This record gives sequence, C-alpha cells and structure tokens, in this order.
Amino acid sequence: MSFDLVLFGGTGDLAWRKILPALFQAFRHGTLPGGGRIISVARDDLTDEQYRNRIQSCFDNVELAKRPAPDEFSRFAALLHHLRMDLSQPQDYVRLADMLKARNADSLVMYVATAPSLFTTVCEQIAAVGLNGPTTRVVLEKPLGHDLPSNRAINEALRHVLREDQVFRIDHYLGKPSVQNLFAMRFGNALFEPLWRRETIANIQITIAEELGVETRGAFYDQTGALRDMVQNHALQLLCAIGMEPPINASANAIRDEKLKVLQSLKPWSPDTIGQHVIRGQYAAGTSQGHAVAGYLQESGVAPGSTTETFVALRTEISNWRWAGVPFFIRTGKRLAGRNAHIVVNFRPVPHPIFKTPAGAANRLVINLQPRDGLELHLLAQGAAQHQTEPALVPVHLNLDFDQRFGTERVGAYERLLLDVIAGRLNLFVRSDEQEEAWRWVEPILAHWRTDPHGPRPYAAGSWGPSAASAMIARDGFCWSEEM
Ligand code: BG6
Repeated sequence: MSFDLVLFGGTGDLAWRKILPALFQAFRHGTLPGGGRIISVARDDLTDEQYRNRIQSCFDNVELAKRPAPDEFSRFAALLHHLRMDLSQPQDYVRLADMLKARNADSLVMYVATAPSLFTTVCEQIAAVGLNGPTTRVVLEKPLGHDLPSNRAINEALRHVLREDQVFRIDHYLGKPSVQNLFAMRFGNALFEPLWRRETIANIQITIAEELGVETRGAFYDQTGALRDMVQNHALQLLCAIGMEPPINASANAIRDEKLKVLQSLKPWSPDTIGQHVIRGQYAAGTSQGHAVAGYLQESGVAPGSTTETFVALRTEISNWRWAGVPFFIRTGKRLAGRNAHIVVNFRPVPHPIFKTPAGAANRLVINLQPRDGLELHLLAQGAAQHQTEPALVPVHLNLDFDQRFGTERVGAYERLLLDVIAGRLNLFVRSDEQEEAWRWVEPILAHWRTDPHGPRPYAAGSWGPSAASAMIARDGFCWSEEM
C-alpha cells in the first residue's frame, strides 16, 4: 500500500521529537508500508537535502536505543521531502495538491502538527484544492480548542469538509501498550468482571504524575494548565477505560459509544462540589532528583503572577447502576515526586473481620502504566508470625510485569497510532462527541476558576502536590496510593 504523509509543521518540535522518531521506528521494525513519502510542510525554505540534514541532527537528541545508525538514517531519509508553504496562502495548497495528485497514493495522511489556530484553515484549504478524497485522513493533535465553544467550532468546521471517519484526533495515551493492556485485562479476561462494580469496589484512583516541569513550553503551558493539558483528555480517557461497559465488539464505534456513555454519566458539578472536590496547585521552587529547581513562576514564558495550575486533584462519580456512589479520584501534576502513572482499584474490606489486619488493609489491584507496565494484586496473607495467639495478616502482592514478560522494546504510542492512521483504523482515536462531552464536563471548573479569588495552592517541586489534595481524599476516609 503506497502512502503520502504530509506533515504540516514539519520543522516544529512535535515533528522531530515525536512524529519522525516514531515513523523511523516503524521503518526500522519493517511495519511502515513500503512506497511511502513523508512530506514536511513549513515556512522554512529548505531543499529536501537540507531538511534531511536538519532532521538527522535532531535525531541526536532522541534516546540512544531509538537513534538511527548513519546507514539506517540514509535509507529512512529517502522517504523525507520538504515543501515550503505559507499555510495562510491558498495558492500554496495548489502546489501541494499538484505534488500529491501526480502520485495519487493509496492512503493520504494530513498530519496537522501546527498551532491549533491553523487547524480549521488547513482543513478548509485541503478541501478547497480537492485533497479531501475518500482515502484522505486528517490527524489533529490536542489541544483541539481551549474550551467547549472553541472545540465545537473546530469540529463544526471539520464537518463541512470531512466525514467523521476521516478525522483522527490523537490522544497519545490511547496508543500506549500499557493502556491497551488495560483494555485487554478488562475485556479479554472474565476474572475481574464480576468484581468490577459498586458492591465490591470502594474507590478508584487515577494518578498521572510527572517529574519534569514545563521545560521549554512555558508560554504554551501558561495558556493551557493541567486541567486542559492532562485531565480533559488523557485522564478522562483512562477513566473511560476503567469505567466503561464491555463494548459489543472491538470496532471503533462500539468502543467509542461506550466511552461516550461514561463521559455523559459523570456527575455534574455544582459550585459546592467544585469548591470541595477540585484542588488546583502550582509548583514552587523545590528539589527534583536531588537538584534544586525553580518554581513555575520563574520558568521562561510564564506570565508574572500567573495563576495557571500545574496540578489538579479531583473527585468525581459515574452516575449509573454499576458505579453509583463509588468515588473516582484523578490526580495529575508537573514537578511531582516521581514519573508515575497508575490506576489503583481499592476493593472493599471484608464484611466481618476475624483476623487482625493493618489499618486500612484491603485488596487492591494496581494497574501500572508507566514507567513500568504491569499489574499488581494486593492480598493479605498469614506471614511468618505463626506463634501469635491472635493471627495478624500482612499485605503481600502478586506482581505481573509486562515489560519483563514482553520486553520494553514494544511498539511506542506514536508509532502505533501513526500505523493505525495510515491503515485507516480509528479504534484508538477520539470521536468528536467524546471530545465535546469531556470539554462540557471541565467547563464549569474553568468558569469557576476564572472568578475564584483564591489562585492555585503552591506546592514544593518534588512533593506529591498541595496537602489539600490529601485532605480532599481523606474526607471520604481514603488516602492516595503513596500514603497507603
Ligand atoms: C502531553 C502533555 O499531552 O502529555 C504534556 O501536553 C505531558 O504536558 C505529556 O508532559 C505526558 O505524556 P507522557 O507520555 O510522557 O506521560
């Protein structure tokens, strides 16, 4: 199958950090269909050769195991081309169309890795020059808008020129092998299903903790914040994977229909619940990996006195028969104590204890997403102290490490997603109604924060966030996983 992948923003950060390295990995693994072209589009006036040289030097920043050897790069580089375009100029799209129509590849992918303000223009211009044919697929990166109205406006504009099944909205968390294992655990095994409900589960915690700060993205991040950057998309997609009903089959729409129902069932916010159940924080100076690091307000690109949140912890519920009353806690932040993403399913304690157990001990299923991919099942066992008159149980756990089992060299998130786009598989992409529903749910929080005189709570870099996040979960009688 021949393909042309047009990379709008081909000289930008996302292109060389994520997209081109992922395409190279697919090329190295032999999974990238042969007969492809990758056409970078940007304002820069570069020949193909100059573009290839530039990308080759960018690859020096990619982690060693994923860096091409010189001969490997030259074979990969033969796929790379560059076209100078001003994306606001309709006549430049005519040149692009000439280049693509001359070849008429089986699959035409338009990867719009530009500023979101250009999404609509690019899609309209692609259509204006007749490039929105039946095998055209358009890939859009988040953020798709900055609130519900702007998201709807983009989706509406897209609908005029493309069918829904031509739009591939990326949430790279869905491409992670660990997230696919989560689907496999739930829908490829019958073991947990009878337990997966309010009668047996006390609460569920989703944590996506990052050790890094905003790095070079201060200006972008300052306009975005953790709620838009992580909660509206990645964290809610994980919540859907945990909370959804089994889909009737593994097709894209069957999966997306079930995820949509979860989003529609999220308990609506009131000013009271936002005040009590949503905690926002901002990192102050502190220590990360043994080094002193600056606070958010000292990062370059961040406005003086900015109230942008770099941490969010919240409590929500899924209002349906399976989950009514079970708290779901979401927590994410930058400059936290470690890079760690996991979901903890805390089961209810035994109804009538006859053994002595440590305070708060109960069964727990931990789904580790990163840095390691695996499952831990926490149980209580007798332990060594047999002579005691009153037996005391101790926590032990079964540990299934998928990285050890299958190797850490599995297909990366972007690699997987890009291959899916080229092949036209939509399972791991987000549909417009899902995305709008997620925006609808975060909208009252954004509105509340706009007028809330209390800004985000400061927390020391290298900590687990503001203490208010622990106080919030403690009101339900629970604690975060690292305090268990
Ligand atoms: C991106 C966010 O979507 O996800 C970044 O914009 C964040 O701010 C990143 O750092 C986290 O992704 P991962 O795969 O490193 O957990």
